Amino acid sequence: CGIVGYIGKRDVAPLLLEGLQRLEYRGYDSAGIVITGPKGGGLKLVKAKGRVRDLEARVPKRFAGTTGIAHTRWATHGAPSDENAHPHLSADEKVAVVHNGIIDNASDLRARLEAEGVVFASETDTEVLTHLIARSAAETLEEKVRHALKVVEGTYGIAVMHADFTDRIVVARNGSPVVLGIGEKEMFVASDVAALVAHTRQIVTLDDGEMATLKADDFRTYTTEGSTTTATPTTVEWEAESYDMGGHDTYMHKEISEQADAVDRVLRGRIDDRFSTVHLGGLNLDAREARSIRRVKILGCGTSYHAGMIGAGLIESLARIPADAEPASEFRYRNPVVDPDTLYIAVSQSGETYDVLAAVQELKRKGARVLGVVNVVGSAIAREADGGVYVHAGPEVCVVSTKCFTNTVVAFALLALHLGRIRDLSVSEGKRIIEGLRRLPEQIAEILQAEDDIKKLAEEYAGAQSMMFIGRVRGYPVALEASLKLKEISYIHAEAYPASELKHGPLALIEPALPTVAIVPDDDLLEKNRAALEEIKARSGRILAVAHREQEKADHTVVVPKNENELDPILMGIPLQLFAYHTALAMGRDIDKPRNLAKSVTVE
Ligand code: G6P
Repeated sequence: CGIVGYIGKRDVAPLLLEGLQRLEYRGYDSAGIVITGPKGGGLKLVKAKGRVRDLEARVPKRFAGTTGIAHTRWATHGAPSDENAHPHLSADEKVAVVHNGIIDNASDLRARLEAEGVVFASETDTEVLTHLIARSAAETLEEKVRHALKVVEGTYGIAVMHADFTDRIVVARNGSPVVLGIGEKEMFVASDVAALVAHTRQIVTLDDGEMATLKADDFRTYTTEGSTTTATPTTVEWEAESYDMGGHDTYMHKEISEQADAVDRVLRGRIDDRFSTVHLGGLNLDAREARSIRRVKILGCGTSYHAGMIGAGLIESLARIPADAEPASEFRYRNPVVDPDTLYIAVSQSGETYDVLAAVQELKRKGARVLGVVNVVGSAIAREADGGVYVHAGPEVCVVSTKCFTNTVVAFALLALHLGRIRDLSVSEGKRIIEGLRRLPEQIAEILQAEDDIKKLAEEYAGAQSMMFIGRVRGYPVALEASLKLKEISYIHAEAYPASELKHGPLALIEPALPTVAIVPDDDLLEKNRAALEEIKARSGRILAVAHREQEKADHTVVVPKNENELDPILMGIPLQLFAYHTALAMGRDIDKPRNLAKSVTVE
């Protein structure tokens, strides 16, 4: 979900609608806006099920005000509907709240409030907060909000307006991001800097347990207990333009196309040719500590988890440390043994994914050392971790991740090389990997030039009901990620298997109607992979291979440039991003906003 708010002198509705557009990728099943003028006159509210443009269509011509808060929702409690859309108003229509997160004890609180005679207008957990704030007898808005937050359990990023306190917006954070944007005689609040950068690049990120009061010409931050905190604004490094579509039809296409530059950025300034190693300034891990690591455990969700799987392979092969990746949510619920000799690495594009953040917090509680491999600078996971590697992919707006995936894997290659060189990896091996890394941007550009060919293939396969993706060892996470991309945006059922497991079950599915995409690198496993192609061909299955040379058994081969074996997975997934993209396009899907998904899942 996304929050945006403004207090100042400008006409607030167009500002907030524009902010919501920029946040729509965080959730898009309903949206709403509430505003007020400087001289009171009550709160004016408009909500709509659907996209921000549906809300915009409902906003009346005369909807003047200079203070407001708005929201775009991704349903958790209660189906998408006008009533369940935020902002929520109290019964006396004096309090308006927008909320990201989940109130865990909402049903208890609701029952209590209903017993006291409160009539609820929606099914949401958020409405509980609205009534609690409205019913507080405290004198200031800050106190009222604090009273309400004392009784709720769960996660929240909230912004609150009150008809009797029109000179301010009060915000609070616990588990869901809240960022203040500091302007000239105007203040902004949002759940994501994406909504702010068009107006100000001076931001303050709230910590968990922190609140803030925004007035037009002033802001202050304090804890939920009431003691003042210091907040020094920092400057956002990303330009406002990097959030625009830049001539592409979709963000996904733009982001796929940016990958050569993005990889260049993650490498820049980090390679040390003299010692054939890399410098990672934020790692916060000295050589002695790095040598004492016995295992590496990588945690992430979705695409980041897949990037972590490739990362684990890189760490194992280059640094010779046993490493594996696991979905963060699974990890944290199985009461894992937290081992002092294990290095834990949390991977996240947004740096806000709740399951990953909660895993990091759990690990830290148990004394583990946790690094972050994160894209968004200053995000919750980046701040919570002991150190880490920034991915520098630039802003990623499309719900499904492409350039950040690629950059994350490259960041892992850097980390693996760094660890390898202080442990066991030779100078010449270090040099070999560095040379491979340097070739990547050009090779990516070469792959992207073949887009038209991949488009033709995608159109050919777009009629399939289901697709199989296979790969072996290093190729397996590539297959997993490619199948995830396809299902996320085309809604074609797809599954990924290690090629070696085919004959232990999935071979039963193979027939002409079920095409297989096979990852077939020219490495020590080439013959084994070819054998899998034979097995499929013998069952009349259609095959699309991604390989370093034409594959005889395949119906089609996408040939990609060869790099070092360890780095091949970085390149082999890229044509399959384009494959998923053009398949979805041929099927008329809404590529940047696939149904039921959100870019950042800041709830459990
Ligand atoms: C959501 C998105 C996925 C993403 C995952 C992890 O589920 O839809 O595309 O991979 O979250 O996000 P993160 O920001 O932690 O990488």
